[in-house]
Amino acid sequence: MLYDSILRPALFGLDAERAHDSVVNLLCVLQRMPLGYRLLSLAEEENAPSLQTEVLGLKFPNPVGLAAGFDKDCRMAGILPALGFGFLELGSITLRPQPGNPRPRLFRVVGAEAIINRMGFNGEGALPAAGRLEALGRSPVPLGINLGLNKDCPHDGAPRDYAETFRILEPFGDYFAVNVSSPNTLGLRALQEKLHLERILRAIQDVNTARKPVLVKIDPDMPPEHLKDLAALLACLAAGVIVSNTTLSRDGVPGDWAMIRGGLSGKPLRDRSTRLVAEVYRLTEGKLTIVGVGGIFTGADAYDKIRAGASLVEVYTGLVYGGPGAVRRIRRELAACLERDGHKSIGEAVGKGHGPG
Ligand SMILES: Cc1cc2nc3c(=O)[nH]c(=O)nc-3n(C[C@H](O)[C@H](O)[C@H](O)COP(=O)(O)O)c2cc1C
Repeated sequence: MLYDSILRPALFGLDAERAHDSVVNLLCVLQRMPLGYRLLSLAEEENAPSLQTEVLGLKFPNPVGLAAGFDKDCRMAGILPALGFGFLELGSITLRPQPGNPRPRLFRVVGAEAIINRMGFNGEGALPAAGRLEALGRSPVPLGINLGLNKDCPHDGAPRDYAETFRILEPFGDYFAVNVSSPNTLGLRALQEKLHLERILRAIQDVNTARKPVLVKIDPDMPPEHLKDLAALLACLAAGVIVSNTTLSRDGVPGDWAMIRGGLSGKPLRDRSTRLVAEVYRLTEGKLTIVGVGGIFTGADAYDKIRAGASLVEVYTGLVYGGPGAVRRIRRELAACLERDGHKSIGEAVGKGHGPG
């Protein structure tokens, strides 16, 4: 309420990246205050027992996580669980620091409840992130770490760079996501090609002595035959798939946005990513963990992705439009969907949209 009537109009009056920076600053201040966490979690409710779930060998208090890109430098991992998330995916983190693309590079498409971004992996690099995570201590929710790639890294150096970033951050993540699907680093998506991806995953698994789960984040624009080609490789070398990153399509947004370069997220991405979740689930015969992300604004949106085959879901744009109460509302609505359909747990609903057999 307060967000819809006061905070959001104030933030939406600012340039989108300045608004994001203001929210980051506010959360960092709250994180430093002794009562900051309590203050932000005042409206916190118990997680419904049906929402508690075990996936990838990890226990999640609920399946609604923060998507990558909101906390690229791991500044807010201490305070973000107060918003009700069941897990956080931090990053993307590149090996070396880099400034990202020139501003403006973040745009709200308000009428369509969408965002276009071409941030380009702006961040401080792996070492400062590792330092912050070391200082953080134990997190109340599982932490995922999303690995990006510096824009000056040639394709044949990618396995080495991803593996080195992984090695630096390995002690601090409960799972890892290999981001080969951002549309904002020239040529990155080509690393989804089978041979490249196999080299990257093997290089990471070579240094993954603790056998942490490694997932691959894919783009929503890949042709179905490519996906078919990838399914076997993913089933063999990854613990799961994150579906999906932002889209290059401009379906669902007014025509004048066609000229703005970057990846589109939010409502217009929702059904495209849900269809891809279903396709990955079908191709991998339900054997690979799927994290569903793209356009989740309500519990019903999350439930659709779960029925399509996702065991966990993530939110970014829905948080920008819905504010600090969004995650708790999505959780509540999701628990109601499960109850309505007679499911006692998330696991019972995963893939149920595919029918019996
Ligand atoms: C501003 C912004 C920055 C993002 N940065 C990253 C990133 O660094 N790494 C990544 O894997 N995904 C990134 N994403 C993509 C999100 O994690 C997510 O896959 C996508 O936005 C779809 O979810 P949504 O519709 O809930 O936003 C970013 C998205 C936005 C809006």
